[in-house]
Amino acid sequence: MIDSPNFTNKGRQYKTVFFETFGCQMNKLDAELSLGLLQEEGYRIVDKPDAADVILFNTCSVRQHAEDKVYSHLGALKMLKKKHPEVIVGVLGCMAQKDGESIFKRMPHVDLVCGTRMFSRLPELLLNIKNHGSHVLAVEEDQIVNVKRAVTYRPNFYQAFVTVMRGCDNFCSYCIVPYVRGREISRTIADVKEEVQALVSNGCKEVTLLGQNINSYGKGLTGGVTLGDLLSELNDIDGLERIRFVTSHPADMSRDLIRTMSRLSKVCEHLHMPAQSGSDSILKRMRRGYTVDYYRDLISYAREWIPHISIASDFIVGFPGETDGDFQETVRLMEDIRFHNCFIFKYSPRTGTKAAELEDDLPDGVKRARNMKLLELQKSISLEENRKMIGKKVQVLVEGASKSDPNKLSGRTRQNHIVVFRGSRDLAGKLADVMVDEVTDLTLYGKQPSCS
Ligand code: SAH
Ligand code: SF4
Ligand code: F3S
Repeated sequence: MIDSPNFTNKGRQYKTVFFETFGCQMNKLDAELSLGLLQEEGYRIVDKPDAADVILFNTCSVRQHAEDKVYSHLGALKMLKKKHPEVIVGVLGCMAQKDGESIFKRMPHVDLVCGTRMFSRLPELLLNIKNHGSHVLAVEEDQIVNVKRAVTYRPNFYQAFVTVMRGCDNFCSYCIVPYVRGREISRTIADVKEEVQALVSNGCKEVTLLGQNINSYGKGLTGGVTLGDLLSELNDIDGLERIRFVTSHPADMSRDLIRTMSRLSKVCEHLHMPAQSGSDSILKRMRRGYTVDYYRDLISYAREWIPHISIASDFIVGFPGETDGDFQETVRLMEDIRFHNCFIFKYSPRTGTKAAELEDDLPDGVKRARNMKLLELQKSISLEENRKMIGKKVQVLVEGASKSDPNKLSGRTRQNHIVVFRGSRDLAGKLADVMVDEVTDLTLYGKQPSCS
């Protein structure tokens, strides 16, 4: 590595960095890891771009809207960069991987384009710009699996996200992720366990394991390792209270894993397992690899083995050729399953994917109306389900002061309900019982059983 006085005087001459992240949890965790690396190099994080020496965007490509937002943020920096050419502007993540060199053509004031598997080299890349000038492109498919983690750097002291695999091999016809995140690659159980143990020693009580397609964890590792094996190992860690994992793919979700979940005391009764559509013909064109009946059976099996399990889903509305009949089947699936919560997206064609070859034939108005219909339906289901919780006692892992009311505490149940209640500050990081007395579609409110 080449030295530069500004960038290598560790801990003495501080540099400032502004970092904004778009997209999924995986991207947010990559941002945390990147910031951890930069802090180690002596960078200080600032919350305004005009106070920063380095401005970085960790980007998402999953829908056009996510990309438009980043390009508009980048455009807004043109003036600042004119006034302060020494400021470094960088684009990281999925859009960097997808658009590569063309970002420099569209936004010449961008200095760095760093793809999804190169962010561990961030300090070195910034140094290169400082020494050799602008337009550094780093989008190779480096096979990074382990990034040195500053365990102390996480947004919530009691919870942490841990990447257990990267990439996706599924190639659902609408999805850009396999193109921008590369092929599936899993970390070993030993590496993940070491990271979780370090987090727990530092006070962390709950981990959420991340993978784009987490049910295929272990593929490619020696010894036929599965997600169930990883969960079993982590379940033994003293001091760790809860384990969650996302995102599950119905076609790769084994019944064996459901049975394993049911017997591991720390694995929470919650699954994020996107259905995407309730119509077989749409699922087929989405290349999801399952039918609606298969999905329904899988949920029944999970509910049989884990009676209080909550299920979350994603749906895409307005996929090419989606008829009103197809959409009604999605409505029916939602009504029948009664999901805990759902993310609903309007289909957005992504260049390079299989579905982009089909005509995006549904007018935006139709997509919007279907989106609204599903959002409203889910809202009413969530409210009805939450009302059933009134008068019940739930166990909450307390995260700290509630964001909406700092006089109250906030935490989550094992099923992932958000619970806001009155209680003593020293409950943070502990398990507490709460009696639910009021609800909205998103939140349960209550008090501790002993409080009047
Ligand atoms: N398996 C991944 C999915 C990432 S994309 C995971 O880790 O969650 C998240 C969601 O975005 C998908 O489940 C899907 O519902 C939605 N999505 C993906 N591509 C899309 C597209 N082209 N248009 C609209 N929504 C899309
Ligand atoms: Fe995309 Fe499908 Fe892979 Fe999820 S499983 S990242 S939706 S291709
Ligand atoms: Fe977006 Fe990339 Fe995540 S495309 S959803 S940030 S994997």
